[in-house]
Amino acid sequence: MANQTPLILAGRSEHRERHLEVPDRSGAGPPTEVALAGPQDVEGALAASAAARGECAALARHARERALRQTAEALEARAEEFCELIVSEVGKPRRDARGEVSRAVSTFRLSAAECSRAGGESMELDHLPATEGYSALTRRVPIGVCSLITPFNFPLNLVAHKVAPAIAAGCPFVLKPSDKAPRSALALGELLLETDLPRGAINVLPLEVEHAGPLIDDERVAFLSFTGSDRVGWELARRAAPRRVALELGGNAACIVDEGSDLEDAVSRLIVGTFGQSGQSCISVQRIVGHHSLFAELRERLIDATSKLVVGDPRSDATVVGPLIDEDAARRLEGWIADAARGGARTLIGGERQGAVLQPTLLENVPHDSPLWCAEAFGPVAVLEPFDDFDEALNCAGEGPFGLQAGLFTGNLDRALRAFEQLEVGALVVGDVPTFRSDAMPYGGVKRSGMGREGPRYAIEEMTELRTLILHRR
Ligand code: SIN
Repeated sequence: MANQTPLILAGRSEHRERHLEVPDRSGAGPPTEVALAGPQDVEGALAASAAARGECAALARHARERALRQTAEALEARAEEFCELIVSEVGKPRRDARGEVSRAVSTFRLSAAECSRAGGESMELDHLPATEGYSALTRRVPIGVCSLITPFNFPLNLVAHKVAPAIAAGCPFVLKPSDKAPRSALALGELLLETDLPRGAINVLPLEVEHAGPLIDDERVAFLSFTGSDRVGWELARRAAPRRVALELGGNAACIVDEGSDLEDAVSRLIVGTFGQSGQSCISVQRIVGHHSLFAELRERLIDATSKLVVGDPRSDATVVGPLIDEDAARRLEGWIADAARGGARTLIGGERQGAVLQPTLLENVPHDSPLWCAEAFGPVAVLEPFDDFDEALNCAGEGPFGLQAGLFTGNLDRALRAFEQLEVGALVVGDVPTFRSDAMPYGGVKRSGMGREGPRYAIEEMTELRTLILHRR
């Protein structure tokens, strides 16, 4: 059992008889065994979290802040180790993995900074004769035990986006990391065990889905935060009622390139937004909507830049597009490309698959009812679509079930504001691709893309309740 990665239960690292085998997706080594939690571990974690609830809530903010800063520093000191872990468990190209680690450090620091911003409101309530003499004070109190479920694509920073705000809010948590990529979360959990946080507050359980039920509907759970597919997310939200739920789900982000745009700038950003993270980001560019006056040049420049991308080995610093999480994911996309082709689409570049690696792919003339247009691709594929007038571009970008982020290149302020008013998305990025995310900003979607917001300040709001003290002066 010596080389098994232990799970983290109520302040201890523990080995188990059953394990998950996590492949080395960089192709460099053998799989790693990770201890697999069972139903008794879930019960143990919920009991420990519930018992730690009072202690977490009472923990002074300077102590929460100290634990968060200590974790940020430890992560920073071991950045290369975490980078290698991510390259190995996800097959993420090293340049993206390095970026993810430094973002996770910043997510912890941003959460630490929130500890000194906790405040409330004071209100006078004498707006009616009957309420003269009344006033109110508000403060935010921790919601209680948080169930946190995270995906494979950012196995460290999307964990940080749930765990660090929970600590800042004063909430114990049970985290179920992706069973495809649980190792970064466990390594982060080990760093958290080195802090003075209440022991029962930290639980990281690699878990099979069939044993995860209590994380959704156990009465000790106050809040569920899920990042993953829209299909699973909305089903979990239904099961979790009446608990508070935050869902960060999929997208099929559109980016409009308006007339007069600087194509050199737009194309360099579109290439990163489409193919960075091998396209496995909820805000990857999937639909590029270009004004007819520049469409031919946009297409040629995109094809040319795509043809120069280094594809394949995630261990190389030059690689931009690595393998997808597994061969099934690459096969699914291959099927979607074939489906679009049957509907009349033209592949401009790419489309070939070797194992889990899909060549970076661009298509045009894709039918709007085909999955490549209206579902979430989650891979290195984008479709191009021309438009004649700006209203048509807005309709096109806003089509479909998702509403996470959209991008717009334009020099026209009126159009930028019109897009901001009309597009139903969590965020519109003007002057860059929808893939832009600062870890400080509110992040989340509307429509099928989810509800609630992440970003430490906003996640802390989700993890706390507003409590009001009403004072009556005679
Ligand atoms: C996601 O895939 O939702 C996360 C994107 C990011 O944090 O950059």
